[in-house]
Amino acid sequence: MESRTSLASWQALTKHAQEMKHTHMRDLFDKNSERFAQFSIQLPPFLLDYSKNLIDSKTLTLLTELAKECEVEAWRDKMFSGERINSTEDRAVLHTALRNRSQKPIMLDGVNVTEEVQQSLNHIKAFSDKIRQGYWKGYSGKRITDVVNIGVGGSNLGPQMVTEALQQYSDNSINVHYVSNVDGTQIANVLRPLNPEKVLFIISSKTFTTTETMTNARTAMKWLVSASFDESAIAKHFVAVSSNKKNAMEFGIDKENIFDMWDWVGGRFSLWSAIGLPIAIDLGFDNFIELLEGAFEIDEHFCRAPLEQNAPVILALLSLWNCTFLGAQSQAILPYDQSLHMLSAYLQQAEMESNGKSVTWDGDEITYPTVPSIWGELGINGQHAFYQYLHQSNNVVPADFIGSVESVTPVQGHHETLMANFFAQTQALMAGVNEEQVRADLKAKGRTQDYIDKVSPHKIHKGNRPTNTILMKRISPRSLGSLIALYEHKIFVQGILLQICSFDQWGVELGKGLANEIQKEIESGEVTQNHDSSTLGLINYFKTLSKETVHNAS
Ligand code: F6P
Repeated sequence: MESRTSLASWQALTKHAQEMKHTHMRDLFDKNSERFAQFSIQLPPFLLDYSKNLIDSKTLTLLTELAKECEVEAWRDKMFSGERINSTEDRAVLHTALRNRSQKPIMLDGVNVTEEVQQSLNHIKAFSDKIRQGYWKGYSGKRITDVVNIGVGGSNLGPQMVTEALQQYSDNSINVHYVSNVDGTQIANVLRPLNPEKVLFIISSKTFTTTETMTNARTAMKWLVSASFDESAIAKHFVAVSSNKKNAMEFGIDKENIFDMWDWVGGRFSLWSAIGLPIAIDLGFDNFIELLEGAFEIDEHFCRAPLEQNAPVILALLSLWNCTFLGAQSQAILPYDQSLHMLSAYLQQAEMESNGKSVTWDGDEITYPTVPSIWGELGINGQHAFYQYLHQSNNVVPADFIGSVESVTPVQGHHETLMANFFAQTQALMAGVNEEQVRADLKAKGRTQDYIDKVSPHKIHKGNRPTNTILMKRISPRSLGSLIALYEHKIFVQGILLQICSFDQWGVELGKGLANEIQKEIESGEVTQNHDSSTLGLINYFKTLSKETVHNAS
């Protein structure tokens, strides 16, 4: 397959990037009073302002040209229609079918996926209603008060991020908890205050083989059985979400209590499926549907809007521009909304597990930088931690600022302060402050010439740091669904532009396999593998010390 670097638009962008590197955004704003109108998109759930990027109209034309040359629209249509675009696993990629609110049939191997999804939604509704209304009873006849979701990665981050974000929409009839870490501290802390008679466990694992999840699930089962003295209690307290029904049943979960999951849903895109069961239980089924509706709204936009007005396409093109052409290596996600405190962790998996790869679909080495590392924190907390770096380090970190016009929890005076910071930061990152301004300011404050000479270099902010601003009207199930879908499609387009298979995750397998072997060595006390001297030294140190700890304790 032809390398992206040989495309005419790619070559033109490489040349154009050299010119733009000598341009300052401040000058672009000074020269063009229409910049905001020209480089922003208003959609019902949010406004996307991307004018504070180092771009001009030529950049946008060339980037759009690149999207055309890469056939982004044709690839998008392949995804939505169920073609097997996950080429390394020979699978379709149909998370959009999970929120296909049009009910349009989608055929895959002779099966109408839309119908299957509807059946699964019916199952989620019936079950979540039963739990919420107290009709589902535990082994001693008491209603369920607490649900513990056991899962990791995509089987944890999506539901947890969403339920945390939408707490204001919960009636708190059920407390939902999450266990993802195999560090026993987490499950022990979660279970300690709970009453086994009133707890329901959801074992969420697409594969039902993930060691961490299986270990936590076994611990939960032991905890339940040691309280109930009855293995039949398991059926009343354990359900699973998995595409591996066989393993889930062997584990001891009743067939009727296993929710569907399909191989055409990637883990990190799965919150719209029964993996979202904790969302339906915590917030109610209607709110779960609202989330799907919001995502569907963006699916429609993605499918219909022209490339140059297509929000996910624009975000993907800008990421490519900033990273591949201008050399940025990381990107910050900075929500100015307490509800979104888990968003950067969620997007970290979504983007980095999808596109953190270095070979093309055909297995050829990629010769240019691909996607950035994603990191972030709530904006205000970040301001008092790492914004110094964003403003003045010699690495440029493009950032997405996400805020809301209305707070979900208005407290007098707070939202104005929060949003004043939100607006101030992108202005400062873009415009910066030059030496002349710094000196004039210090002079106006009556500082001595010596002081001005000494301090001025430290106070200069070069600016020219790219940001996108996503201004939501309000965080709601619907708008959150839209926001997540916006990023999902951005990631998809990135993959197409970079010729990366976004839907596999082979890069996590090597470490998993080695861990399984090392665990056997730790448990048997016998080191059988060839390890480098560092790993061997560390394992031996651990074994010696843990033996001593056991010995001292006994
Ligand atoms: O190890 C990575 C991963 O495979 C993710 O892609 C996935 O979301 C997570 O593990 C959990 O997998 P499962 O749902 O199969 O337990």
